[in-house]
Amino acid sequence: MRHRILFIAITLFAFAVTMSAQTPAAAPSAQTPAAAPIPHLEKRGAVTHLIVDGKPWLGLAGELLNNAASTAENVRPVWPNLAKANLNTALVGVGWGWTEPQEGKFDFSALDGALRDARSNNLRVVLLWFGSWKNGTSSYPPAWVKRNPDKYPVARDKDGKGREILSTLSATNMEADGRAYAALMRHVRQLDSARRTVIMIQMENEVGLLGDSRDRSKEANEAFAGPVPKELMDYLQKNKSSLLPETLKLWDAAGGKTSGTWEEVFGSGTGADEAFMAWHYARYMNRVTELGKKEYPIPVYVNAWIVQPQDKVPGDYPSGGPQAQNHDFWRAGAPQIDILAPDIYLANFAEIATMYSRNGNPLFIPETRGDVANAFYAIGQLNAQMFSPFGIERQVSADSPLAAAYGVLKQLTPLIMEHQTNGTMKAVMMDAGTGAQKVTMGNYVFELAMGGGRGAAPPPAAPAAGGGRSAAGVPQAAGGGGGGGRGGAAAARGYAIIIQTGPDDFWVAGANLGIKFSSTVSATPMASLAAVEEGRFVNNAWVVGRHLAGDDTGMGGGDRASLRLTANPGILRVSLFSYR
Ligand code: DGJ
Repeated sequence: MRHRILFIAITLFAFAVTMSAQTPAAAPSAQTPAAAPIPHLEKRGAVTHLIVDGKPWLGLAGELLNNAASTAENVRPVWPNLAKANLNTALVGVGWGWTEPQEGKFDFSALDGALRDARSNNLRVVLLWFGSWKNGTSSYPPAWVKRNPDKYPVARDKDGKGREILSTLSATNMEADGRAYAALMRHVRQLDSARRTVIMIQMENEVGLLGDSRDRSKEANEAFAGPVPKELMDYLQKNKSSLLPETLKLWDAAGGKTSGTWEEVFGSGTGADEAFMAWHYARYMNRVTELGKKEYPIPVYVNAWIVQPQDKVPGDYPSGGPQAQNHDFWRAGAPQIDILAPDIYLANFAEIATMYSRNGNPLFIPETRGDVANAFYAIGQLNAQMFSPFGIERQVSADSPLAAAYGVLKQLTPLIMEHQTNGTMKAVMMDAGTGAQKVTMGNYVFELAMGGGRGAAPPPAAPAAGGGRSAAGVPQAAGGGGGGGRGGAAAARGYAIIIQTGPDDFWVAGANLGIKFSSTVSATPMASLAAVEEGRFVNNAWVVGRHLAGDDTGMGGGDRASLRLTANPGILRVSLFSYR
């Protein structure tokens, strides 16, 4: 009996000890929510989605000015404005210098405060690691790195003169950057694993060598005169059938050799210099990324300062950066880096974005202008996963065109993400001088033109100055009556996303366009509107603001049937039919 009592007592004691040891970690509470799945990339159909909290994340984003978050206090007033402007993601710089002011001593207080404030405003964050390089130069490393070029070597020009650009060929530079970045990612893991406020990382910023096509330091000259690394040659040979035309052209022009020095394999022009720099930037940043992913494996992208129209040779733009023509060298050298992203400030936005969608590269646009037509087009036509105007704090207010456009895209996000994967979504954008564009979806042709288009509703007697409101309080997106909208920059371009959900059923969202219809079915060539609703999604449920016909659909049916997306972007549910 005594033994049994002793046994029970020991068992109960052991149980109590076990339970108390487990309690803090095992029981999620309001303070420590159960960890959401880690943000990751997932290929779905033809696109790759960023998965956050288990769902595809459409980044309706903006990038803060470079040093905005160098103290939490400085950036604190910005967060509520981003949230009011319907952003869900902010791109936030983290400088190596303010993170590791003394070697091995880290200070994450600015980041901690910024993440706390972003979270309380319901925003997610992409951290931009301003480590060894930003915009081609090395202005963000700590002073103890900058002041010691003997230990942390820099790139050099033909005369041996140093540049303020850390050398890609130095393992010391690479490991120092990698140690700091790994400490950052360790901190993010400890701080953020339960909340996943940080969803992605940008590695460095717009890297590449400025002022010359390649580094001319002694180390660089020796490496350049040596053989092209076997890993690169193997990659090119193994992936020959899917290499980009730019790579094949460079390689073939020099005779398509499978080994040799950089000049033997890639010729004696600046193309070889650029390939050499791309390889070395990629290897360096791959290593830094790898050290960070060991701590916390969230997706990582690099951003490119793209070639500008006035640029003649690499070095006018950062040589060896992830510009479109260098993608194969980056893919070969940096398998840890998930995405190669363009910063697009040029007018040929769609062309550049398309160049960055080749070979399955997911389209992320971390820096651009706040052009809402580009946002709709990138997301609806080119399957962009993120759109992010730069200097966002200067562009947001609750009544800005960007806030209105993001408001519509936010409502449509579940539909957009679903239809990105199956080719049942298209988008257009146009300017005042652009002619009408035809978009075929299923058995219907949508003809879209700037303004009202044929058969559009007549303009209102007195154009409204602001976005009009219907009696029901729903912002007037289409039909007559909206008229002027916000005017100014918002009225300058037309844009629309069209999503097909059934043979005759569509969602149409956008602004400043007239739409008329025809059928592709020869037996029933005419198309018209069966029913049209104007409204909005509230908590993912469609709420009708108005039913539209008559004056609001081109004064009738038949070949007069038309829709009008006014200056104030909105959403229409459109059901068509065809007849003869
Ligand atoms: C491009 C850089 O990547 C940004 O960090 C910023 O400096 C902008 N240029 C300024 O226009």
